[in-house]
Amino acid sequence: MALFAALAAIALIFIYALRTGMPPTPTSPRVRAAMLDMLPDALNGTIVELGSGWGGLAVALARRFPDCRVVGYELSPLPWLVSRLRLMAAPAPNLRLHRADFRRAPLGDATVVVCYLFPAAMTKLRPKLDAELRPGTLVLSNTFAMPGWQPLATQTADDLYRSTIYLYRYRR
Ligand SMILES: C[S@@+](CC[C@H](N)C(=O)[O-])C[C@H]1O[C@@H](n2cnc3c(N)ncnc32)[C@H](O)[C@@H]1O
Repeated sequence: MALFAALAAIALIFIYALRTGMPPTPTSPRVRAAMLDMLPDALNGTIVELGSGWGGLAVALARRFPDCRVVGYELSPLPWLVSRLRLMAAPAPNLRLHRADFRRAPLGDATVVVCYLFPAAMTKLRPKLDAELRPGTLVLSNTFAMPGWQPLATQTADDLYRSTIYLYRYRR
């Protein structure tokens, strides 16, 4: 029974990785710390995480910025379920985690958009950001740059891969 459940869980993760084009690889604690460090201390408004995975980064954002509303969107059912369970175990009143496609998420009131996607997904995301983001919105990306955009700042995290983090200020 336990073996069947484990195989079903792996299959479900695999199916959704095929569907979204990426596995639910979590941002590591070191990269997460570096990402939080790049954001201004005085933030308010809405932080949107595109593909919130297992919830580690979303929870860290919600704790670090208690005056912000943090909204995560995740399609893969198992990571999303785990993220909801961890939220039940340690509630964060300013965090909402939706099982939904971020391509349909409204971004017009975002102060910050956070993501850790893949190169092809960044390219596909760009028209949505161009259509919806207000000038001045911050976009923070783990590892993958937005093609054609000039970052406001970059940082190399102290992790095994020396991951680069990109911070953009959106302008039309
Ligand atoms: C590399 S993981 C990063 C997870 C999390 N953001 C983190 O940094 O720990 C990317 C996540 O985006 C999710 N994803 C990809 N495309 C999506 C879409 N269109 N809508 C919602 N989630 C999506 C994947 O299922 C995956 O969990």
